[in-house]
Amino acid sequence: MILINGKEISENRLSALKEEISASAINPCLATVIVGEDPASQMYVRMKHKACEQVGIKSVGVVLPADCTTEEVLSAVSKLNSDGSVHGILVQLPLPKHVDTEAVIEAVSPEKDVDGFHPYNIGQLFSGRPEYVPCTPGGIMTLFSEYGIELSGKKAVVIGRSVDVGRPMAALLINADATVTVCHSRTKNLEDEMRSADILVSAIGKAKFVKGDMVKEGAVVIDVGINQDENNKLCGDVDFESVKEKASAITPVPGGVGPMTIATLMENTLKSAKMHANL
Ligand SMILES: NC(=O)c1ccc[n+]([C@@H]2O[C@H](COP(=O)([O-])OP(=O)(O)OC[C@H]3O[C@@H](n4cnc5c(N)ncnc54)[C@H](OP(=O)(O)O)[C@@H]3O)[C@@H](O)[C@H]2O)c1
Repeated sequence: MILINGKEISENRLSALKEEISASAINPCLATVIVGEDPASQMYVRMKHKACEQVGIKSVGVVLPADCTTEEVLSAVSKLNSDGSVHGILVQLPLPKHVDTEAVIEAVSPEKDVDGFHPYNIGQLFSGRPEYVPCTPGGIMTLFSEYGIELSGKKAVVIGRSVDVGRPMAALLINADATVTVCHSRTKNLEDEMRSADILVSAIGKAKFVKGDMVKEGAVVIDVGINQDENNKLCGDVDFESVKEKASAITPVPGGVGPMTIATLMENTLKSAKMHANL
């Protein structure tokens, strides 16, 4: 069984980015927008700024109060769109309920949409011509390629159909010539679907949901979930102990998919900076 070490791959990718940036004349800059004081969102934004610092990407943070209006968020995004020194814009989700999330996502210039959530970028991805790919599924594709995991002709099952993970993951797997099934809370015979998978990606947000007897012998299992177990310990969607007995390769939580999300965000930001510099 191969333990897919996302932490190591992520560190390697970040080091390569750092070298590339320091050897170039490009000054990439990522802007984050956070609304309110949700501790988890604050933590994610801090981690992103820290990664920027690690690789030599400038980062700027726009912090808006929890009671700000949709128009105020749109105005902040609009300023960043027209700021030539900013290459990537990341609006930390979720936004407070009263803010129109769709309008905000659509306001980000597709050319600076390093999260890959703008309908233009989602459309490009589903058309098989990806430009900016959402960071979590993008990072998972990097893991497949780094570990030489063949996808062509394989049966892939993605559990979860969110716009940030499940759907773009399915599109990327289709683009890589896998045969893809997307499951969700209304799926009938979910366990049978899971047992049919050569490649199983779980993105549902339910602690230790995927057990060993739901996984095909030799499957590659990717655990996107970030949950807490009964002892408040961080865990994924996958019951690692039972699934590792069946899988040929598996990502741990922590240290699997999570670090790859950040590395991909840095890569997307550099890509945007190069594109804006016509490189
Ligand atoms: N590692 C990372 O970098 C990273 C990044 C993003 C998210 N995550 C984690 O990944 C997990 C999923 O995130 P998300 O944003 O995709 O979540 P989400 O928007 O809540 O979507 C969850 C999906 O799982 C499906 N689902 C829920 N319970 C299910 C069940 N019992 N059986 C089958 N399907 C079920 C839902 O189905 P319906 O559509 O029918 O409701 C939905 O499609 C969370 O734990 C999140 O924290 C990790």
